[in-house]
Amino acid sequence: MLELRPFVRLALLGLLLPAASAYAQTVRAAVRTASAVPAVTMTLSAKPAELLSLVRTRYGINPDPNVIADLGEGDHAEVRRGAFPKTSPISRALFSPGEPVAVKIPYLDPGGMMAHEADVSRRLAAAGGSEIFVRAAHDAELGVLVMESLERYKTLDEWAEGRRAIAPRTLERIASQLKRGLAVLEAAGLVHSDLKPENILIGPRGRIKIVDFGISADRSGYPPYPEYHGWRGGHHDFVSANQLSNGPAAYEDDRHAVRAVLRRLRYRAATAASRARK
Ligand SMILES: Nc1ncnc2c1ncn2[C@@H]1O[C@H](COP(=O)(O)OP(=O)(O)OP(=O)(O)O)[C@@H](O)[C@H]1O
Ligand SMILES: [Mg+2]
Repeated sequence: MLELRPFVRLALLGLLLPAASAYAQTVRAAVRTASAVPAVTMTLSAKPAELLSLVRTRYGINPDPNVIADLGEGDHAEVRRGAFPKTSPISRALFSPGEPVAVKIPYLDPGGMMAHEADVSRRLAAAGGSEIFVRAAHDAELGVLVMESLERYKTLDEWAEGRRAIAPRTLERIASQLKRGLAVLEAAGLVHSDLKPENILIGPRGRIKIVDFGISADRSGYPPYPEYHGWRGGHHDFVSANQLSNGPAAYEDDRHAVRAVLRRLRYRAATAASRARK
């Protein structure tokens, strides 16, 4: 996966050039309006150093473009640790000044993916899902997603790999939280469409948080970017037959993904138990 990432970035760059140019314009506008930062002209690149510099000024993140993102990275973005500033376009109802935040910085933002993620997070919270879905808001000036920071969390895979045993009670607790997540998604009329171990984080006392609403869609719909209408995306190990054949978003897509995630965890638990018996 890691070796493919530069290729994925290049492919995105080629496919999404029109959206990329709109994004570059947004960043240019942000550069013009951001206070205390001299105006610069953006050049289009996978991870603009100027954007990192602006985000550093506002959120206090590590600006080094060569340093691996401290909280995580995916195919669309990297996630860095920061702090919510005194001045921000984001409402203080969501975050307080000084609060640790995770800042998702897109390599490219096709059709406003960060804004979409923030909107999905708001809808999930309104449907009663703030316990299980990450709280997030869009900083429209800088084009980044600002989230509650899940500092002591690991992805489900990292967590499972680091354990010698997984107790049935722990598995049940994970399963019931994921089922609760499915119920909230359905109450909100949404399909996450990318439920997989990298997007399911597990923290202290086995608490689950689901992240990454980039390709979430309204039920019976598609993600709101034309580039994804011919391909709804998803991960090959967790995608349903409907999603694979590019059918419109269905609740069954997420149910299928959760079954696959749990099957993988149960498999890990069984192999760990078998190793312990030898
Ligand atoms: N709020 C958060 N706090 C801490 N870590 C996070 C947070 N959100 C995301 N991460 C970490 O960053 C990684 C990448 O984030 P995310 O999945 O949103 O990016 P992406 O590029 O959209 O991913 P994908 O490759 O699945 O499309 C996650 O797998 C997770 O490990
Ligand atoms: Mg992800």
